[in-house]
Amino acid sequence: MDAVQLPKSWNVDHILNDLDQHGFAIIDHAYAAEYVHALADECTSHLNQFRDAAIQNGVVSNIRSDHILWINEELNTAQQHIQHLNALSNCMNQAFFLGIQEAEAHFACYNAGEFYALHRDNPQGKNGRIISTVYYLHEEWQEGWGGELRLQDKNDQWHIIAPKTNRIAIFQSDLLHEVLQAKHQRLSITAWLRSGNSIW
Ligand code: OGA
Ligand code: MN
Repeated sequence: MDAVQLPKSWNVDHILNDLDQHGFAIIDHAYAAEYVHALADECTSHLNQFRDAAIQNGVVSNIRSDHILWINEELNTAQQHIQHLNALSNCMNQAFFLGIQEAEAHFACYNAGEFYALHRDNPQGKNGRIISTVYYLHEEWQEGWGGELRLQDKNDQWHIIAPKTNRIAIFQSDLLHEVLQAKHQRLSITAWLRSGNSIW
């Protein structure tokens, strides 16, 4: 896809092994402080453009209450994150023949009281999503602020993953998961690594 180098903190062998064994992997301290700040700035400076995630094609659902902004080419800082994910996709394709061809991504903002109930990102295997990734980009996150990602791994074990600043959670898009109610503003980028052929 491209020749972007992965950040040093991304231990690819570790990530591939965890994905293989458990269906999910975590990267902590994913980026240098300068980039973390730049990304948080890009996100917060666009908060007025975020839309209610529960409304899709005019239909309102009560499964989630966060707000999102789809990432396009103009969001340059977020694009760099997507390029790193594309480079990681190359590694995953080589290791597991996943056939990932593209990424789609949005910023998400959960304000206090907001959540995303239990779901899968590719419930019927039809939308092309193979791997889900969530990068947490709020400037700080304290224990007790809620907003954890609760995920059932491929061996049916449940995990509670705190949305720690500068952490990336990576998991198979077919796994069951939810975002517990946040008690403080929680900012992230969800990106799905997908095959080109979705049948929406
Ligand atoms: C999603 C999702 C998890 C998280 O955006 O589909 O499940 O921790 N996000 O934000
Ligand atoms: Mn999800």
